[in-house]
Amino acid sequence: MKNRLSASLVKRIQLLKKEKNAVILAHFYQVPEIQDIADFVGDSLGLAQQALQTKADIIVFAGVHFMAETAKILNPAKKVLIPDMNAGCSLADSCPPDKFRKFKQKYPGHVVISYINCSAKIKTMSDVICTSTNAVKIVESFARDQKIIFAPDKNLGGYINALTGRNMILWDGSCEVHDVIKTEAVIKLKAAHPDAKLIAHPECKAVILELADYVGSTTGLLKYTMTSVDKKFIVATETGILHQMKKASPEKEFLIVPSDETCSCNDCPYMKMNTMEKLHACLLNEQPELILSKSMIDKARKPIMRMLELSE
Ligand code: 13P
Ligand code: SF4
Repeated sequence: MKNRLSASLVKRIQLLKKEKNAVILAHFYQVPEIQDIADFVGDSLGLAQQALQTKADIIVFAGVHFMAETAKILNPAKKVLIPDMNAGCSLADSCPPDKFRKFKQKYPGHVVISYINCSAKIKTMSDVICTSTNAVKIVESFARDQKIIFAPDKNLGGYINALTGRNMILWDGSCEVHDVIKTEAVIKLKAAHPDAKLIAHPECKAVILELADYVGSTTGLLKYTMTSVDKKFIVATETGILHQMKKASPEKEFLIVPSDETCSCNDCPYMKMNTMEKLHACLLNEQPELILSKSMIDKARKPIMRMLELSE
């Protein structure tokens, strides 16, 4: 019965998509059914690039609020829908604009590089945006003596400082999903599976990144598992990415580092607010729609476009 219902939901979403010339962009942390019905599944950089290229009239963004905002900023004339408007991001929320403005004032002469996981308002206060895929490239595009503020993720910023030998000033923000991944849980899994490679997202704490065999964005992690000769991976990021990993390498084994003792999962509560039912309703009603003022779009567009040009 449940299968019949979900099959008809899939069909109805596909029909609406065609009828309305809509495109569904989904992040790797979405539930498997949403990833499977999407026209494009990717990381933050890939999704921003797709949003810029699409010829569709409507963009349905199956991800979190800051990602849908980025799509709207890149496509002011298009309708951008998000299945659940409350799908926020703890990392973006860890950087309130009024506090960040005061923080910036303390460091005159610094350029601001902001991780894409921030609000549109923070983007308007930034010189250039980066994602976990291109952060090194963006930072290295500045002269070595250029003073830099990096916001909002202290873990990614610290990792980039270590990789590049820079001394960027870091905003004290973090992701509640990655920052809580426990070192003891990683060590325990590594001890139980000595044949496994540990792969981690750079939003994890420094101690976990130091233990990792590979650190990368969600796309980076996926590609690593596809090209590696290894057969087993301990994955320190959100559970959603396992769907594509298992699809691409069904013969390999993936162990997610659990967020607590009660499950073998590590879910982002915001990403998981989107469901197939909400996706269907949002296509049908063309609501909730993401709206931003023209001045916000104009100001936030500049640092995003600068990132996209530097990423080519
Ligand atoms: P990626 O750009 O690596 O997909 O990261 C997005 C994100 O929100 C990680 O928590
Ligand atoms: Fe934000 Fe963390 Fe969820 Fe990514 S995993 S969307 S950074 S709360």
